[in-house]
Amino acid sequence: MAFETINVDVQDHVCLIKLNRPEALNALNTELLSELATALEDADASDKVRCIIVTGSEKAFAAGADIKEMSEKSFVDVYSEDLFAKVSNRIIGIRKPIIAAVSGYALGGGCELAMMCDFIIASDTAKFGQPEINLGVMPGMGGSQRLTRFIGKSKAMDMNLTGRFMEAEEAERAGLVSRVVPAKKLMDEATGAAQKIAEKSQLSVMATKEAVNRSYEVPLAEGLLYERRLFHSLFATEDQKEGMGAFLEKREAQFRDK
Ligand code: HXC
Repeated sequence: MAFETINVDVQDHVCLIKLNRPEALNALNTELLSELATALEDADASDKVRCIIVTGSEKAFAAGADIKEMSEKSFVDVYSEDLFAKVSNRIIGIRKPIIAAVSGYALGGGCELAMMCDFIIASDTAKFGQPEINLGVMPGMGGSQRLTRFIGKSKAMDMNLTGRFMEAEEAERAGLVSRVVPAKKLMDEATGAAQKIAEKSQLSVMATKEAVNRSYEVPLAEGLLYERRLFHSLFATEDQKEGMGAFLEKREAQFRDK
């Protein structure tokens, strides 16, 4: 499918989705978000894809929701259409892993989009922020909720209330990003991580994603039970026999997603 605001490329089981509105620093307008959700759903449904990377340009992962598009909307407009609700639900409904490879600005909806991915690999030029407060609004796609769970109340309040940007190094220290690498190495690092994931059994990969995400939804005892049941269920797969058998036979496992 041809898209206007993103580029999609599948290689070696990794689907690379590149946000592509350079004239607006990849600001997330309706078209881009809709195309992104469609591309993610296509990748989720494709046998050729085992891991997904979402990235932007060197200067901007995404500088936020499109302010031009939002500026004239009224409360009735955004409440009636439930702005950003459907598209966020489509993105968080993806079952295959999604890595955000972030260089430059990840602001507002851009930071929120990165947080909707499963983990963030950042270049040393990355800048995260929730500057919506400067626009007389506040985050609307997770900036007050996911960010608080990821980096704690004090830093989340600071970022949400002052609108300050957080550099990559602080973001890694705070737990927002999993790795920081020099800008030149960002895509190699993200692709390497995606290829590592692509080698695993998709059954354990999807169950693991589900279990980790569950930890944000339920109390610890429920989460542990959920994890244990998923763990037990993987013993019904051929891949469990293959994985453990290969270890014992001192060879590489050949997973078949069965
Ligand atoms: C629309 C945007 C944009 C945005 C940048 N542009 N961010 N257009 N929406 N969010 C456009 C600019 O208008 C400009 O277009 C071009 O991109 C280049 O931007 P500059 O400002 O000239 O670049 P620079 O001086 O390098 O500054 C970069 C920047 C700044 C610091 C990232 O652009 C900025 O502060 N952007 C807004 C960040 C923000 O407030 N994000 C939160 C949005 S609200 P022209 O045509 O003039 O060249 C939000 C709500 C989320 O995300 C709620 C739920 C999703």
